[in-house]
Amino acid sequence: MLLLIIALLIINIFVYETIKQSYIVEKEVSFITQANILSNRVRLAINEENKQFDQLLLSQMMEEVSRLIDGRIMIVDRESRVMYDSFHDWKNQHTELYEVTRAIKGETITNSYKIPKYGKVMYVAVPVIYFERILGVVFLSVSLEDTYQRINNVKNLLIFISIVTLILITIISLLFSKFISEPIKELTDAMKKTAQGKLNEKVDIEGNDEIGQLSKAYNFMSTKLSHIEKQRQDFVANVSHELKTPLSSMKLLSESLITQPNTPVEIYQEFLTDIDSEIDRLNEIIESLLSMVDLNEEKLKLDYQLSYVNYLVEKVVSQIKPLADKKNIKLFINQWEKIQIFLDKGKIYQALMNIIHNAVKYTDDGGKVVVSIFKEGNYVVIRVEDNGIGIPKDSIPYVFERFYRVDSARSRKTGGTGLGLSISHQIIGLHQGTIEVESIVNVGTTFFIKLPMELNP
Ligand SMILES: Nc1ncnc2c1ncn2[C@@H]1O[C@H](COP(=O)(O)OP(=O)(O)OP(=O)(O)O)[C@@H](O)[C@H]1O
Ligand SMILES: [Mg+2]
Repeated sequence: MLLLIIALLIINIFVYETIKQSYIVEKEVSFITQANILSNRVRLAINEENKQFDQLLLSQMMEEVSRLIDGRIMIVDRESRVMYDSFHDWKNQHTELYEVTRAIKGETITNSYKIPKYGKVMYVAVPVIYFERILGVVFLSVSLEDTYQRINNVKNLLIFISIVTLILITIISLLFSKFISEPIKELTDAMKKTAQGKLNEKVDIEGNDEIGQLSKAYNFMSTKLSHIEKQRQDFVANVSHELKTPLSSMKLLSESLITQPNTPVEIYQEFLTDIDSEIDRLNEIIESLLSMVDLNEEKLKLDYQLSYVNYLVEKVVSQIKPLADKKNIKLFINQWEKIQIFLDKGKIYQALMNIIHNAVKYTDDGGKVVVSIFKEGNYVVIRVEDNGIGIPKDSIPYVFERFYRVDSARSRKTGGTGLGLSISHQIIGLHQGTIEVESIVNVGTTFFIKLPMELNP
């Protein structure tokens, strides 16, 4: 606003001065022209004999001319004596007007004065030259009041336009600043609320400008934050629940032992065995949780080594073999290639262990689990196929979520926390790989683990 006001002021002053100058110069030129015309006519009133103005002729001539000019006309001879005065005041007197004295010396001269009685006036004096001889001076005194009146009108118009413009500028500036500052205020308020813990705060700001984009980014962040918060709460609830279950049964078992005196040793042993297995379960849960926390923290420091994928799979299979044998499940690798890539051996081992273990765990006695390793494009694929109980279609999207188990009752019997696939998924994600599952209930399940051949650790 300030800049605009200053610019307006400078432009106005410039325009005003220019117009004023041009009006005055225009007047000056027109008066000099008139004076020169007069000077030429006045020459006709020269007495041929004594080369002097013929008083009578001059008076006659001037009477008609003076009516045409709005001002005072004086004809002065070269001795500064007034020969003719349209106001008849100075007739035959000597004049010492500055302009007249200068004009007698041959100059054309104009000057402006402010005279109390008449206001602004312009004096114009031009010499009367006859055969290269200066005979006298034509002197005009004309009012500039109407000119100044016109200039004043222009000035008033300029002031009026300026005031209107200023009002418009002020209104537009205020509207514009409101337009800019309102959304910023809204965003700030929303951010303050977020800082106070209200995570799902949204702003409703339209537009594709910077503020609009900022608002979109803010809304996105807000959604993400509340999502993370929801996950955190779910996680805490799940963990507490998972930890509480074994603790409750331990409490129940130990309490019944304490409250019943003379319990036979066998019962003691049975209950303690149960307590022991609950402790194992607790341990298992805590270990899984710890490894998940590790994965979150160690995101950037995986211990990459050039390793053979096939040997790693073989090691896992031989580790699970006894369990499969126990359930009379055929577990074998039917197709493999020697493939060497960069990976974190320990972590990938853990992921494969869970997936192949799952396959054996969720396959009924006498079934089979087949593992294959092959290249596909830029990926190494490890396929784990079983003909077990399968996963219902509705559950497939959730199997990689923490604590998710298709059938909690059954899983409880088989053991497990529901964290295995979530951890595996995370590990494979860290290796820039993918894990996918296909399954049909009571037909079988196939997991595809894809790891990039050329990984940039
Ligand atoms: N091969 C499979 N066949 C059928 N269901 C499976 C298979 N693999 C996983 N699931 C289902 O997915 C659920 C999640 O598996 P996940 O490995 O995460 O947990 P878990 O095996 O129950 O426990 P944990 O692995 O933590 O000991 C399992 O409870 C099971 O219901
Ligand atoms: Mg598992």
